[in-house]
Amino acid sequence: MKNLLEICYLIGSVTFIIGLKMMGNAKTARKGNLIGAGGMIIAILGTIFLHEGPVPIMISGMIFGAIALGTIIGWMTAKKVQMTKMPELVSMFNGMGGACAALISLIEFNHLMSEPTHVASIGTMMAIILGLIIGTVSFSGSIIAFLKLNGTMNKPIRLPSYNVINTIVMIGVFSFGGYIIATGGSMMLVYLLFACAIVYGILFTIPIGGADMPVVISLLNSFTGLAAAFGGFLYDNKVMLTGGILVGSAGTLLTLIMCKAMNRPLSNVIFGAFGGGATAASSDSVKGSIKDIQVSDLAILMNYSKKVVIVPGYGLAVAQAQHVIHELELLLEERGVEVKYAIHPVAGRMPGHMNVLLAEANVDYGKLVEMDDINPEFEQTDVVLVVGANDVVNPAAKSDPSSPIYGMPILEVDKAKHIIINKRSMNAGYAGIDNLLFYDPKASMFFGDAKKALTELVAELKTMD
Ligand code: TAP
Repeated sequence: MKNLLEICYLIGSVTFIIGLKMMGNAKTARKGNLIGAGGMIIAILGTIFLHEGPVPIMISGMIFGAIALGTIIGWMTAKKVQMTKMPELVSMFNGMGGACAALISLIEFNHLMSEPTHVASIGTMMAIILGLIIGTVSFSGSIIAFLKLNGTMNKPIRLPSYNVINTIVMIGVFSFGGYIIATGGSMMLVYLLFACAIVYGILFTIPIGGADMPVVISLLNSFTGLAAAFGGFLYDNKVMLTGGILVGSAGTLLTLIMCKAMNRPLSNVIFGAFGGGATAASSDSVKGSIKDIQVSDLAILMNYSKKVVIVPGYGLAVAQAQHVIHELELLLEERGVEVKYAIHPVAGRMPGHMNVLLAEANVDYGKLVEMDDINPEFEQTDVVLVVGANDVVNPAAKSDPSSPIYGMPILEVDKAKHIIINKRSMNAGYAGIDNLLFYDPKASMFFGDAKKALTELVAELKTMD
């Protein structure tokens, strides 16, 4: 039985690695997800049935009842969640993972206390205490991230000298954990440590601006992975260890990739004040006037273009305009216009947001061009159509050292012959700063909700047959 269980764990571990690899490509991602989930089912069933022989009916009833309940809730939530609400869902699920890791530590410490000797190796104590601290921080931090993303807590709360306070609390929590490891502690002290870690998770997340939440969620995700890996160490469970390490390292890599795409160090995300009342360029600094374009003029302009590049952003996702933009693309191509999509790595609100959105509308993956490849093409582009994107095309990132987004690589749409910007108003994007692109002499605003405005544009183009 033991050997069979080890084989189940081996299959689980291998499927996680294969699944993760397949998730790196949009074409294979769905299958990769299913393969990983299949491996997880094998590992769970193996643990229930093979770990200690037959499980009493009562216990297996409770286990399968809990699994069924969790599956129904998870399935229904994931089924009906809108794409734009995905980061919220990820933060909530991640918080639950952190809570599980923390509960494992609490239960195992309780087991330890109920044993007559109360003695555990230093390795076991470290795994329990670190799993508890990191899992709890991930849990409370993820709940705050969830509340921020769903708008319940829409302002970053910054205590005076919050960086100093947070650093002191962090050192305090880990020192307290160290004390428990060294002295053997008591259940009471462990509950106190749990409460302190909850407070630290809250303090860690509340000052961070909304725009940085995807980065923070990915960081908290890596914490959850690490906490789960401690659980694997505790139980000498290889699949839990492998899964935890994979989540931890994938989360860390994703965090670093996002920071690189925004050209900001992680410390700036955690201790900076980006996107939440940050130093925004005031409207007074914006010079010039804007002009808008009517749908009939835009239809003519696009109809007679040779090359059009579409820049999708967060607004496209909010408006759910992915299908109509695909229709526009097909209509233009029928008229001999070359159409491409320019994809900025942090457009939208989560990694790969635009790729997933456009794939949902069956846009050919080959038409999606990464930022570094499309930037040299803007000079030969007749019309660039920016749909619901703002920060990712803001020239202040290149030209204004005082801007909070200074240094972030952008799509250089200002090189195109005509720049058309579709959004509903002159409001700022997530970084909360003005965009001088709107005042560029080559730019015209095409105001309106993306879905409505593009539907009108498509209808107008159809009348030009
Ligand atoms: P944003 O800069 O947030 O701009 C989105 C624009 O969409 C807004 O200015 C808004 O203007 C417009 N909009 C909203 N609803 C619309 C609708 N229904 N129809 C048309 N337009 C609509 O988006 P972006 O350019 O995609 O940039 C992403 C931002 O998120 C960056 O600051 C990035 O650093 C940050 N971020 C992203 C990630 C990832 S991984 N994607 C991670 C961390 C941070 P109106 O209100 O005037 O319509």
